[in-house]
Amino acid sequence: MIGDVLPAIEPVPGAGTAARGAGGPRAEAVIDLDAVRHNVAHLSGLASRSGAATMVVIKADGYGHGAPGVARAALSAGATRLGVATLDEALAVRAAGIDAPLLAWLHLPDEDFAAAVAAGVELSASSREHLAAVLAGARAAGRPVRLHLKADTGLNRGGCRPEEWPELLDDAAAAVAEGTAEVTAVWSHLARADEPGDPSIDAQAERLRAAAAQARARGFAPLLHLANSAATLTRPDLHLDVVRPGIAAYGLDPIAQPADSPLRPAMTVRGRIALVKTIPAGEGVSYGHEWVSAGPRTLALIPLGYADGVPRRMNNGGRMRVRVGGPGGTVRPVAGRVCMDQFVVDCGAPGELDVAVGDPVELFGTGAGGGPTAREWADEIGTIHYEIVTGMKGRVRRTVTGENA
Ligand SMILES: Cc1ncc(COP(=O)(O)O)c(C=O)c1O
Repeated sequence: MIGDVLPAIEPVPGAGTAARGAGGPRAEAVIDLDAVRHNVAHLSGLASRSGAATMVVIKADGYGHGAPGVARAALSAGATRLGVATLDEALAVRAAGIDAPLLAWLHLPDEDFAAAVAAGVELSASSREHLAAVLAGARAAGRPVRLHLKADTGLNRGGCRPEEWPELLDDAAAAVAEGTAEVTAVWSHLARADEPGDPSIDAQAERLRAAAAQARARGFAPLLHLANSAATLTRPDLHLDVVRPGIAAYGLDPIAQPADSPLRPAMTVRGRIALVKTIPAGEGVSYGHEWVSAGPRTLALIPLGYADGVPRRMNNGGRMRVRVGGPGGTVRPVAGRVCMDQFVVDCGAPGELDVAVGDPVELFGTGAGGGPTAREWADEIGTIHYEIVTGMKGRVRRTVTGENA
């Protein structure tokens, strides 16, 4: 269920300042809803120039940012639709009192769709089997379901293959005639939108248009949607009727994040120094003693580890950096391995840096002033920033900031 991984907590007055001696939780993911609003306003501005509406993707608990808060921020900034993967995620959005158009797209055919239909959740179908199950839910709920028929245009993941598409449309037409369904949209998902210019992007768009033409030939008038963040940012010609950005709403560019990016990262992860000590030269630090002090060093212990979503392999290359001392602080390297609950920061020669127990340490954030970012973490361990921000867990508390947080 939404909210299980990082339980949302009440907004903390002044959170986000992380001033020295400010106290606060030992580890927190600070979510800046003003940044979400700013990003969604940018994305929906791009979409509206193409005449498209904006569906912000808030699956996986809003990419780890807290789905209900992100949803409200997005809807106040120009989004008119929301998208999630699962029925549970959709019902949690409804339980939070959010009644905007909401699509859920990833199901097992033996799930019970009735509650979602009753809650007005729009549902995707990728096969005749899925459609039959969704329609059974609509009959049980006693109201028609709004269908988004998903075409597999080349991702070869979800979606209906072109050979089976006519039969799926026939079943949908029968359901419409029966009063069990409306065909709201025909849609698909891109495989390589983050590689602008890749020929698969146009090929997929062409196949979606062909699938839509078949739907129109049966009398449907579906909305079309295809564009994720990358295509929303780079392919206005593929905005169609609705764009479906996720990661960019959280301020992370799926392609590259230039210094003048209009996107503002919305998640900053912080810990606080639990212990400060000085060691002599030649001492190994953390498990395996991979890092050995070249001279006397001041070390700071940060009580956050891989059980909290800091990947253990983050510091394998010894390049992990954190910012010691809050927003205006100093970027310092991590010494040795990341452990389950903790890691150690090399604060330099004794006296080089003024560090004290309780001082804030930024693990990643907006990148302002050269600070560490989720992208930097991702690049370091050969993954994507999506995995970093959705991976914060364990003892990291979520603190929500921003207007109306
Ligand atoms: C079907 C679908 N649409 C849109 C998105 C949003 O993608 P992105 O976060 O790259 O914008 C996702 C996320 O993976 C998705 O699964």
